[in-house]
Amino acid sequence: MYQFAYFFNRKARSRKHMQTGDHVQQARAPPEGKSTPDAGNMLERRREKMLYSPIMSKDFPLSHEELSALVKKFPTPFYLYDEKGIRENMRYFTKAFSNFPSFREYFAVKALPNPYILKILKSEGCGGDCSSLPELMLCDKSGITGDYVMFTSNDTPAQEFRYAYERGDIINLDDITHIDFLKEALGGKLPDTICFRYNPGPLKAGGNAIIGKPEEAKYGLTREQMIEAYGRCKKEGVKRFGLHTMVASNVLNPDFFADTARIVFELAAEVKEKTGVRIKFVDLGGGLGIPYRPGQQKVDLDYVSREIRKLYDKIIVPAGLDPLAICWECGRPITGPYGWLVTTAIHEKHIWRDYIGTDACMADLMRPGMYGAYHELTVSGKENAPKDHVYDVTGSLCENCDKFAVQRELPKIDRGDLLIIHDAGAHGRAMGFNYNGKLRCGELLLREDGSVVEIRRRETVEDYFATLDFSGLDGFTA
Ligand SMILES: Cc1ncc(COP(=O)(O)O)c(C=O)c1O
Repeated sequence: MYQFAYFFNRKARSRKHMQTGDHVQQARAPPEGKSTPDAGNMLERRREKMLYSPIMSKDFPLSHEELSALVKKFPTPFYLYDEKGIRENMRYFTKAFSNFPSFREYFAVKALPNPYILKILKSEGCGGDCSSLPELMLCDKSGITGDYVMFTSNDTPAQEFRYAYERGDIINLDDITHIDFLKEALGGKLPDTICFRYNPGPLKAGGNAIIGKPEEAKYGLTREQMIEAYGRCKKEGVKRFGLHTMVASNVLNPDFFADTARIVFELAAEVKEKTGVRIKFVDLGGGLGIPYRPGQQKVDLDYVSREIRKLYDKIIVPAGLDPLAICWECGRPITGPYGWLVTTAIHEKHIWRDYIGTDACMADLMRPGMYGAYHELTVSGKENAPKDHVYDVTGSLCENCDKFAVQRELPKIDRGDLLIIHDAGAHGRAMGFNYNGKLRCGELLLREDGSVVEIRRRETVEDYFATLDFSGLDGFTA
């Protein structure tokens, strides 16, 4: 970790919990011994603001003064993550699924591939879901190993399978032909545990822009292939089996997940009936959405869990598959609401539209440009100002889609204002890239004690050039 540590007097800090169930809005108390006489009143005022001001509905954990102080130490743009929010959210998640004999969340490393965050999540009982060798290595470095690692990849190179096998990670195969591919990669053997990814095709209605309709998506095996795959692996001596599916992304309808569980449970029962294989865990994938837009409802995990439990009792228990472990590999609902991209308004231009240019760009946060995704944007210190201007808020990439907000009603923005882009804690920095020679920003973590630590430094020009050998240019004739 980098040496910088910045401590806030946290008397005014508070946050809104994104959870449902018995987790209601709470103000964060100052750390013990740091309380000040007016702290209680300030927290109360904050709480009132959160309850009555729609602008505060996407609460940011630092006051304007605190954020202004922070940017003096860590210039924008940067990501800020809230450890307390992530921890409490993870505890809520775990509690919601405590009605099953066994539950595990394999945090989708691709959503926020930072070892400090992974270490926090590990301490909350999470495993890691990986899609590549570097992600497997990140889990390893964060102390997430063996059974706690789910390797859900596709078009996987042989050496990545070998690495996962040697570390004892769970390998989740994306196709029936991968049985032979894996066997060959491992020198003629298969692991003791294997999981298969199921693509239910037209059986599962829905799908969305991120993954597409299941029958048009490249992932997974068909139902017939699943049955055949388990039968074959049983004959090959594989001892323990899992069943995985992930059919959509960022879905807010809780019934969608109960329906997915039903499909998976029915398949597990069919596999047992037809092959004698007793599936030990089902991985329901990721795909649980978060309310990016104001007015959207968060997914009620208690409801999802109850509905899945009813299906468990109806399908899994009579099929003789109890106890069956329930797993998820969520990223977005775990860290998404607890990460913000903070950027400064550095330009303002007025042509056919009014534009605010920022010091961040799509290379830092690709979702709006790539999917047209909505991210709430607030102007620090102007939370209660009237939203009487309409702006396109842009990044500096030479792509017209590089807009964090399009025709958005916002308060008047002045150069130098700090803009907070919300719900950026998953698939944010992680999706960054270097097109246009853009250097990706760093990541800060607001710790539970009020300190802020840099958990990834921003990129430098040297990083950008690291894969080039300029000395070769001297002898290179063009
Ligand atoms: C296989 C797989 N698992 C899990 C996830 C995590 O999804 P989310 O972050 O939406 O929970 C993804 C996301 O792309 C994925 O492809």
